[in-house]
Order: sequence, then structure tokens, then C-alpha cells
Amino acid sequence: MQETIVPVLPQGLAAFDLSERVAVVTGASSGIGRSFASAIVQAGGKVVVSARREDRLKDLVAELGADNASYVVCDVGDHQSLPEMAMQTNNVFGAPDIVVNVAGNTVRKQAEDLTPQEFLDVIKVQLMAPLHVAQQFVPGMKEKGWGRIINIGSITTSHALPGTTAYAACKSGVAGLTRAMAKDWGPFGITVNAICPGFFATELTAPVVADEKRWRGNAERTFIGRNGVTEDMHGALVMLCSEAGRYISGQMLYVDAGFTAN
Ligand SMILES: NC(=O)c1ccc[n+]([C@@H]2O[C@H](COP(=O)([O-])OP(=O)(O)OC[C@H]3O[C@@H](n4cnc5c(N)ncnc54)[C@H](OP(=O)(O)O)[C@@H]3O)[C@@H](O)[C@H]2O)c1
Repeated sequence: MQETIVPVLPQGLAAFDLSERVAVVTGASSGIGRSFASAIVQAGGKVVVSARREDRLKDLVAELGADNASYVVCDVGDHQSLPEMAMQTNNVFGAPDIVVNVAGNTVRKQAEDLTPQEFLDVIKVQLMAPLHVAQQFVPGMKEKGWGRIINIGSITTSHALPGTTAYAACKSGVAGLTRAMAKDWGPFGITVNAICPGFFATELTAPVVADEKRWRGNAERTFIGRNGVTEDMHGALVMLCSEAGRYISGQMLYVDAGFTAN
């Protein structure tokens, strides 16, 4: 077998630099996606943020600066609309090098009460969209021979939590999806990984945060005794998006302060 010539890794913090990179982040109108878009800009990258709520995206772009950020409104559960979303995205800063699939929803119900429509609504956004969004941008990555795709798993990727049937099925599916995407696209210089967050206070987790006993219990189960703030994931994100993460692929990176190891 012929040895691959491995390019020299930029030294020190330069390996984490995203200044030559363009990213698209879905689910960026709030919570983790919004925070991740900032992290990418802070690491020098440019970002196209996407979600359904245009007012929120406009505010974020104003905060990040129009030289660094732009937005495209899109419902990622409507898979037919993704080619248009990709065209608009490509027209801003060129074809993205990095796709971060953060858009997410859930239905909190006991397993016996979940309807087929509710299940499907979660599957479309949490499980199908990460693939179908990535598909739009993989041709551009293949052309460059370089790409990064980051999906979002969860504690439910590997552990049961109450009332999460649809969510857990999708987040477990994200593990298989991530490995399969990584396998198919690895030969083209594309890595695919998932960040699996612990508990972070966002709109999605508002009902869990409101249950003080449960929220405190979640914090106590971590090794460091607190729930997360979204900045706790920035290091993992930037590593996976940058040269520093070039030999990591097909992995679920739990950023949960040990919750799933406890
Ligand atoms: N917070 C946590 O503790 C935690 C833990 C593990 C995993 N996660 C995962 O992290 C991801 C982000 O969640 P979050 O906690 O940051 O919640 P969030 O603040 O509610 O953010 C969800 C984002 O997804 C977008 N979204 C929802 N449905 C969409 C659709 N059909 N099309 C386009 N965008 C859509 C929302 O924007 P619009 O409503 O404007 O479209 C919003 O920007 C999700 O995948 C979630 O499952 C979160």
C-alpha cells in the first residue's frame, strides 16, 4: 500500500485556527447553535447561520459582524428546501468547509403516548436533516479534498432518560449516521463526528431546567458538580472543525463532565 503524504500540522494554536474556513451552522437562532456560530467566528472563521426565526438570525449576524457572518432562513425538516438553502449559503462566502448540524426539536411524552406524526416530526429534524444538509455541501468539500461535519448527539445517544422515546431513537441514530457518513466521505478528506452534550440550559431544555430537583440531580451526577454552559463545548467544537482534529472521525465526543461515565 502506498503511504499517504501527511501535510505538516500547523504548530501550537495555529492548528485550531479557522481563519481560512467557512462554516454553515443550522439551529443557530438560539442555544447551542448560536453559541457555536460565535465560537467559529472567535476562532477566525466565517459563518452562515440558519434556522426558521429570521429576527433572531439577523440579531446574531449584527452581533458577529456582516464581514464574518450572514444568515439563510430554512426549515431543515422540509428536505425539499435544502438545495435552495445550500445555493444561498454558497453565494455568501463560497462553498462551506464545515457543516455543523445543530437544529433540533423534541416531543416529551411517555412511550405509549407518542403518535406516528410526532415521531416523524422529530426524525425529520434530528435524524434525517443532518444527512440531507450535509449532502448539499459534500460536493464542495470533495472538490477541495477537505471537509468537517459535526452532528449533535446527546446523553440519550447511549443512555435512557424519561419521556424521550422519539428523541433518544434519533440521537442513538445519530451515532450510526455519524459513523456511516464518516466512512463514506473519509476518502475525500472529510471527517464526521458528533458532539454529545450533557445538560445545557436552552429553550429546548427549559422544562427540565424548570424542574429544580431534576436539574440539580443532573448537575450532581457530573464529576464536577454542575450543568454546562454552552461555552464549555467551544474547545471540542473548534478542535473538531480545525486541522487539530484531522485524525478524529466517526466519533461521539461526550462533553458532559462525566455524566455518562458516572
Ligand atoms: N441543551 C441541551 O442540554 C442539549 C443536550 C444534548 C443535545 N442537545 C441538542 O442540541 C441541539 C440544539 O439544541 P438547543 O438545546 O440549543 O435548543 P434550542 O435553543 O431550542 O435550539 C434549537 C435550534 O434548532 C432550530 N430548529 C428547530 N427546528 C428546526 C427546523 N425544523 N428547521 C430549522 N431549524 C430548526 C431552532 O430554530 P428555529 O426555531 O428558529 O427554527 C433553534 O435554533 C439539538 O439537536 C438538541 O437536541 C441539546
